[in-house]
Amino acid sequence: MKPTVTVTHNFPEVALEKLRSRAEVLYNDSGNSLSAVDLIDRAGQSQAMISYLTDKIDGAVLDAGAGHLKIVANYGAGFNNIDVAHAHKKNIWVSNTPGVLHETTADLTWAMMLAIARRIVESDRFTRDGKFHGWQADMFLGGDVHGKTLGIIGCGEIGKAVARRALGFNMRVLYHQRKRLPGTEEKKLNARFVPLDTLLKESDFVTLHIPLTYETKYLIGEDQLAIMKPTAYLIHAARGKVVDDRALVEALKKKKIAGAALDVYENEPDLTGGMTDLDNLILLPHIGSASVATRDTMALLAVDNVFDAMGGKTPRTLIPNWPGKRNT
Ligand code: DGY
Repeated sequence: MKPTVTVTHNFPEVALEKLRSRAEVLYNDSGNSLSAVDLIDRAGQSQAMISYLTDKIDGAVLDAGAGHLKIVANYGAGFNNIDVAHAHKKNIWVSNTPGVLHETTADLTWAMMLAIARRIVESDRFTRDGKFHGWQADMFLGGDVHGKTLGIIGCGEIGKAVARRALGFNMRVLYHQRKRLPGTEEKKLNARFVPLDTLLKESDFVTLHIPLTYETKYLIGEDQLAIMKPTAYLIHAARGKVVDDRALVEALKKKKIAGAALDVYENEPDLTGGMTDLDNLILLPHIGSASVATRDTMALLAVDNVFDAMGGKTPRTLIPNWPGKRNT
């Protein structure tokens, strides 16, 4: 008998087809997230679950799967939606999709940097609105990107891919994270390890690429925004709660920093009040890894993790023992 695998939300056809070749698939194609009750119900019937980063896989869901649920394979690199420690207590593996989305997410980060600095969204709106009546020397003056200082907070896979692109823009690159990179990597990326305050003070672009944990929650708030340059931009495509959105709106209103581009939100999908009134803020709907090819690759990797677990093998991108609760 084929094992039952829940897929909690829309999933690429290519990956569904592969999954169906070896499993009965309980597929939620309603376009809406499953409720907490439905997640519990599905966990109770499944040997594996492919979850979205918007599904809260908490103790109750995992308890419902205890004894038969072998794996929760998250369709995404971030896994702050899953109580990994609890899963491990119940002998349930948790996997994610690292190593396949960093280049695409780095592309988006660069699109955000260029768009906010060169006022692309504002300019598009202006042109569409029929307001372009001829070239003017002082129209939509923005900031340069080339030759500026880029501050990367979190120089993992995505941060490094962002840094590599900066080489072509002749930028000075600073980075900050818990652990310094090996010297050879720093050299390759031409990146300098600095304390957080130095990075915030000296960077023209500050970009965030850290996971959401209890240590990184609200890493960027009023105090940190206050030490950034008034000409600097904040770019955020990590996890919403790393930034205090209310403090950011205030800083943008008061022009304490020049602008920001967000792909993620503190209370996603809700926007903090005042955000949509700001011209110096670009708002995107969490599309960091949203290219057709990358989403297919992520989905296929999630399926491979499920197949690994079904076959009694350690999933290839297993989240190893996680020391603490991370269900944020
Ligand atoms: C992830 O995989 O964590 C991304 O945020 C999805 O775009």
